[in-house]
Amino acid sequence: MIFESHAHYDDRKFDSDRDELLSSMQDQGIETIINVGSDLKGARKTVALTEEYDFIYGAIGIHPSDIGDLNEEVYKWMQETSRLPKITAIGEIGLDYYWDKDEEVKRSQRYWFCRQMELAREEGLPVIIHSRDAAEDTLKLVKGIHGEEIGGVIHCFSYSLEMAEEYIRMGYYIGIGGVVTYKNAKKLKEVAAQIPLDRILLETDCPYLAPEPERGKRNSSLNLPYVAQEIAELRGIPQKEVETVTRENARRLFRKVK
Ligand code: NI
Repeated sequence: MIFESHAHYDDRKFDSDRDELLSSMQDQGIETIINVGSDLKGARKTVALTEEYDFIYGAIGIHPSDIGDLNEEVYKWMQETSRLPKITAIGEIGLDYYWDKDEEVKRSQRYWFCRQMELAREEGLPVIIHSRDAAEDTLKLVKGIHGEEIGGVIHCFSYSLEMAEEYIRMGYYIGIGGVVTYKNAKKLKEVAAQIPLDRILLETDCPYLAPEPERGKRNSSLNLPYVAQEIAELRGIPQKEVETVTRENARRLFRKVK
């Protein structure tokens, strides 16, 4: 059975067939799904999905590109909502300097990233971190607020092996998805081959980033076997072992999952 650690089934790309798709997951080997909210609307929809489906758990957080959604009132809602039994993590949160290059916006991203990390610490939940074109600042910030006391996963990891090792030393997991199957993803293939298997989580980030041979199409958790297969080949181990160990990893991190 496969543990999907990062999906966005609240996305409107699933509006036409969401129930049909989600109802077929468990029969096709997807045991558990963490649905991750990235803006306020997504966070609310995530809560609804966890109420509707037994095997769906949630993470709530505001993505760096959507921090316009955040204010003290929303923060308070997040605080209360994070105490629900099926909300397992705060995320996705982090820094994204790819889309936002304005210094003022970057400062604001760092501020709300810190606040949401503190929320996770207070509520005893792990974090799901999104970091794009912001390697140095993300690491500095996570170290600066003693992120090793919080724990979490660096989702859709896109940095170097050395950077992965820095996070692993702080007890973090590395989220690996469809990108690892792309021919030009040399750095990520190296990371997937070299870091300890007990630090890897499988994720799709669906509807985005479908693996080969589905690249370019709408992604779903049903494509995770392609990701597991690629990691298995890179490491020279059975695909089953990748699926089993990453499932155990996710269950260790997302403690509220039954
Ligand atoms: Ni995501």
